[in-house]
Amino acid sequence: MRPLSPDPVPFDPVADGVDLSVHIRGLKLNSPVMPASGCFGPELGRMLPMPEIGVAVTKTVFLQPRAGNPAHRLTEIPAGVVNSVGIPSRGPRGFLAGQFAAYQALSVPTIISIGGHSPAEYEEVATRLDGAGAGYEINVSCPNLDADGRDIGSDPAALHDTVSRVRAVTDKPLIAKLPVMVASIAECALAAQEAGADAVCIANSVPALPLEPGSLKPALGNYVGGLTGPHIRPIVLRLVWLAAKAVELPVIACGGIATADHALEYLSVGASAVQVGTANFSRPFAMVDVVRGLRSRCHAAGVTTITSLLRRETTLA
Ligand SMILES: Cc1cc2nc3c(=O)[nH]c(=O)nc-3n(C[C@H](O)[C@H](O)[C@H](O)COP(=O)(O)O)c2cc1C
Repeated sequence: MRPLSPDPVPFDPVADGVDLSVHIRGLKLNSPVMPASGCFGPELGRMLPMPEIGVAVTKTVFLQPRAGNPAHRLTEIPAGVVNSVGIPSRGPRGFLAGQFAAYQALSVPTIISIGGHSPAEYEEVATRLDGAGAGYEINVSCPNLDADGRDIGSDPAALHDTVSRVRAVTDKPLIAKLPVMVASIAECALAAQEAGADAVCIANSVPALPLEPGSLKPALGNYVGGLTGPHIRPIVLRLVWLAAKAVELPVIACGGIATADHALEYLSVGASAVQVGTANFSRPFAMVDVVRGLRSRCHAAGVTTITSLLRRETTLA
């Protein structure tokens, strides 16, 4: 008897002869394009051909449940947005009992973003996640409440401690996602590498204080937020370039990417992969466009990998 509906044909990432895959500690991703944490969820994933992209990244999970910041939480500026969502979280147990199943149903590996307010909290979150997920992205753009309140990722010693602690409780791929405001991105990336990270992601949003045009009142309930989108691309490009020269680890670039050309900018300065954030809100198919755009650029140049494509493009010395 014939089945009522045929099994779906599994996606073959090299069927067209172009191999865009990247590896992070043995985790094979079908493309160098990922969603940025907090700018993607299973609702969007269900609309997209996720195997073409290759991986899902969750919103940051904190140890304690938290409600997030007061409204307004997002304001648009001419070339980007400033958000102060404040990362609502149901905690590791709430995440595992709730949204995690919807991520797993997307048929791609899930990288779980984890947050904390001290190195010990990150370790505890990773421990409580109890092996769930294909890997972890450590969002170190959180204030260190055990110290002076500076972002953990801007202090190489605290960053090293945080990554080492998480490394000690998991063998899964670990990505350290670094803040923008650091004295030396090379030093921070090196600290993450020495502590056992498998990749660094650069970067999180740029701290900002938006005012409502005309009224001079704060546009966000929390006053300050994070600037993201097209404006930050040249800022993050510089950081990615500096970090990629300093470390052996793959660098995942994140900042203002909406097209394959934007992704190529980052790949040409040393990134191995990219994340798409703000663009997903206005163009839900942005990540798919970036992947397909990279494939068609390879086809047009008659090459099978991004590395060969970049050899033909102008790159920085
Ligand atoms: C609404 C919103 C929520 C975000 N939430 C998180 C989050 O939970 N964890 C995190 O590491 N980054 C978060 N980010 C930062 C993004 O992951 C990304 O680093 C940033 O948006 C820069 O990329 P883009 O310019 O492509 O948006 C958020 C960004 C936005 C706009």
